[in-house]
Amino acid sequence: MTLLAIESSCDDTGAAVFRDGELLSNVVAGQAVHAQYGGVVPELASRAHQQHLLPVVTAALRQAGVDKKELSAVAVTQGPGLLGSLLVGHLFAKSLALALRVPLLTVNHMRAHVLAHFIRAPRPTFPFLCLTVSGGHTQLVVVRSALDMEIIGQTIDDAAGEAFDKTAKLLGLPYPGGPRLDKLAQTGNPRRFAFPEGALDGGFNFSFSGLKTAVLYFLRKETAANPVFIEENLADLCASVQHTIVSTLLRQLRKAAQATGLRQVALAGGVAANSGLRQGLQALAETEGYTVFIPDFEFCTDNAAMVGQAAIFQFEAGDFASQLSSPDPRLKL
Ligand code: KG4
Ligand code: ZN
Repeated sequence: MTLLAIESSCDDTGAAVFRDGELLSNVVAGQAVHAQYGGVVPELASRAHQQHLLPVVTAALRQAGVDKKELSAVAVTQGPGLLGSLLVGHLFAKSLALALRVPLLTVNHMRAHVLAHFIRAPRPTFPFLCLTVSGGHTQLVVVRSALDMEIIGQTIDDAAGEAFDKTAKLLGLPYPGGPRLDKLAQTGNPRRFAFPEGALDGGFNFSFSGLKTAVLYFLRKETAANPVFIEENLADLCASVQHTIVSTLLRQLRKAAQATGLRQVALAGGVAANSGLRQGLQALAETEGYTVFIPDFEFCTDNAAMVGQAAIFQFEAGDFASQLSSPDPRLKL
């Protein structure tokens, strides 16, 4: 089975090719245009997908050494995401599948993040617990099988990636601030400043909007007394913010692992690249006896390989989409 997968849910245009379950190519084009606005501008994202998609698909097929006539199926992200962005990928995939007379598979983007763990070894076995942390989502998911997943905890306001990006912005770092904050945090003292943790009592949900407000008021107060407070303390500020976000994530993850009895723990989504989260989880795994799974970085951030992997499971289950299918910006897990 030779499969082309397409991802266009937010601001990354991706295409990947699989043959008989093996990933042959995975091409992603990012969109630098949003940096000047401090966040993704939906209309600009749609236009950039329109420009990037054909060259990205062509590159993925060429790198894989596959001609489009050899494809047995086409897969595409159905949602959740930005409607205009999703439409670009969806219409392209539907047209290609129709022209080639091959089946179409539509994939849930959040399931694809979880199933990125199956692209390459080491792979978890079902069931396992997955913490999906990205710019748009924070979810604790019990993964019973490729087609059976349940969210047991999620953010009630900002996503973890948003918490990184918004606090990084308050510290004057350019968008997206998460990776830059992570880098600066590595030379800072994580215990220098104390900010409120965002986990809610009782369940496994998360809340990060209070952190952003706390950092804002703290910086206002300190910079009123010392205008160069941020510059003088940047690494410690980054380390303290990162420590707070990571502690919140790991506290809820630990509670969920305890409650479900699951000992295989996986990270997914762009924030899985965070060095503090990776180290914190490895340390927790040693004391709690978890086996930890973190995909390669290229499969953590938005990419089409994860969409293809999810589609392979659907192909095996006979879960095909019709030509009447349309994108769903609010598609649930
Ligand atoms: O999964 P992703 O590529 O896109 C979606 O949101 O779907 O995740 C992007 C998010 C951004 O918020 C970015 O700042 C964050 O992941 N991120 C990081 C790091 N690398 C990416 N946050 C903290 N530390 C990092 N090293
Ligand atoms: Zn994503």
